[in-house]
Amino acid sequence: MVGRGTEIGRTLLAPSVLSADFARLGEQVRCVEDAGAGLIHLDVMDGHFVPNLTIGPPVVEAVHRITSLPLDVHLMVEEPDRYLEAFREAGADWISVHVEAVFHLHRCVSRIRELGARPGVVLNPATPLSLLDDIVEYVDHVLLMSVNPGFGGQSFIPSVLRKVASLREMLGQRGLGTRIEVDGGVTLANAADLVRVGADVLVAGSALFGRGDPGENCRAILTRMREAEN
Ligand code: DX5
Ligand code: ZN
Repeated sequence: MVGRGTEIGRTLLAPSVLSADFARLGEQVRCVEDAGAGLIHLDVMDGHFVPNLTIGPPVVEAVHRITSLPLDVHLMVEEPDRYLEAFREAGADWISVHVEAVFHLHRCVSRIRELGARPGVVLNPATPLSLLDDIVEYVDHVLLMSVNPGFGGQSFIPSVLRKVASLREMLGQRGLGTRIEVDGGVTLANAADLVRVGADVLVAGSALFGRGDPGENCRAILTRMREAEN
């Protein structure tokens, strides 16, 4: 279905390029790819759903050209349905939409799948897991925000650890293999805890690109994740 796959059964690190140096984007993406990143996370913000503006399809397309990793596009926009096709054409492999931003969620998720991408839904920190009840069986991943969306470099909200554990339990009870992705404030200090409570995909921006070498930072977090898998 999706051309570029990811290894099943292992946790994945998804560098968020929001905190990368955009003047050296290609170089930085290659650096984290060489260091073992599993997918590249791209944050799309429209200045309405969140109070910030970032990138659109042309940047996704440019990243698509220089990496063989799947592209994980996180849409923090109002009316995401309007842009699904453009992002898929630009090379998005995973497309995530916020439950808070979509009126007809089942239609939107079905459309993402029809376009040949993996659909995911996102919950803000204060949005309860109960909103997943009628949609979770239709998505490939659930992204739990562990900061309020809009900016990189914020602090992890600790109660999200409990939320990850509860979602893991809900998925287990339903016999679903849906991936749990966590986004916001992920660091070397909390990566292992997140994997232990059941996260499969960790998004990290400033912890990788903020200071030091992104490749080394990536390897350090991946080591913690691998240790926690066992
Ligand atoms: C926040 C974005 C995140 C952000 C994470 O709204 O969705 O993907 O880039 O950045 P850090 O890891 O710095 O919290
Ligand atoms: Zn994100």
